[in-house]
Amino acid sequence: MRVLGIETSCDESAVSIVEVQHGKTGVIANVVSSQIRLHQQFGGIVPEVATREHLRNLPQLVPGLMTQARLRFSDLDAIAVTQGPGLATSLLIGFSYARALGLAADVPVCGVNHLEGHLFSPFLTQSEKVEFPFIGLIVSGGHTLLVHAKGWNNYVKLGGTVDDAAGEAFDKVARLMDIPYPGGPKIEQFALEGNPEAYAFPRSFPQKDNFNFSFSGLKTAVRYFFEKNPHAHQDKGWTADLCASFQHAVVDVLARKAGNALAATGCKRLVASGGVLCNKALRIALAQACAEHGASLLVAEAKLCTDNAAMIAATAAEKLAVGIPLTLAQDIDPNLSLFTPQRGQAPVKNKEKFTRQLKQQSAAK
Ligand code: KG4
Ligand code: ZN
Repeated sequence: MRVLGIETSCDESAVSIVEVQHGKTGVIANVVSSQIRLHQQFGGIVPEVATREHLRNLPQLVPGLMTQARLRFSDLDAIAVTQGPGLATSLLIGFSYARALGLAADVPVCGVNHLEGHLFSPFLTQSEKVEFPFIGLIVSGGHTLLVHAKGWNNYVKLGGTVDDAAGEAFDKVARLMDIPYPGGPKIEQFALEGNPEAYAFPRSFPQKDNFNFSFSGLKTAVRYFFEKNPHAHQDKGWTADLCASFQHAVVDVLARKAGNALAATGCKRLVASGGVLCNKALRIALAQACAEHGASLLVAEAKLCTDNAAMIAATAAEKLAVGIPLTLAQDIDPNLSLFTPQRGQAPVKNKEKFTRQLKQQSAAK
């Protein structure tokens, strides 16, 4: 099973080819064109700028990827494209490109949920077969989710953020300190020199059976700190202590809740992904939480933690390989949920049927 993945849900134009062979999934080629520098001047992502970049990037990235992989389009079993959630206009570029390519190259196209891609990306890192059940922790710039994954398409939401995502909190706090977007990596760097106990920042929802997160209070606490100490960010020692204390508060809550989720469900494996998992303090805290609960930890390698297309292609390839029906992609859904079945036509299982339906679908339009 060989699948081309296309991911354009936010500010990365990403393409990849993965292959499932003898139950093992491997990355054949993986390219991410980051737009971070372009958006930095605005202090965050500007959707229109991202859209135009995707439009410019994809027609160059895909042929380059095929050359790198030494493959022809006829060697592909499917094209998997991010259907949502994400920025509508960014999703549309990847989606339209994938559908046009599918029609031109006679390859079936399926939509993949971006969050599902994150959820399974750690298995790809280890080239490990996906096994259920597990607790999934997705921590990115747009999402903070605790999931009880019971089987393919059977994901139960344990909790999520009620306001800012954890990565968003890193980025907003960084902005208060004049640190350019994305702030997470830089805050981690400053935190290395600081004392995590220097300031006692608030922790949200401390109850053991509450798996929701809230990070806006924490961000506000940092803002108040600067209002009281306006010159704090000019002092290296204060900055380091502040970053370390803020990071500690985020990491502490994430690790504690992940541990509580393991205890509540009896799951013996935590699978963690999303851009914030690049943070080493978080990885260490999660490993400790798992050890306390007799569970193992699976984390994606850094380049598969942040947005990429390998995770999109791999999710589709794994499903196709074990006979899980995929849905023909009809439209994007910027609010696509992980917890409701994907929209679209009746699901199909094999390539021939898939291709036939795609042709019927386009002939009908
Ligand atoms: O998964 P991702 O690439 O994009 C989304 O789907 O949102 O995550 C990006 C987020 C940003 O908020 C960034 O600040 C954060 O991940 N991030 C980090 C680190 N590296 C990236 N946060 C904390 N520590 C890091 N080392
Ligand atoms: Zn993401």
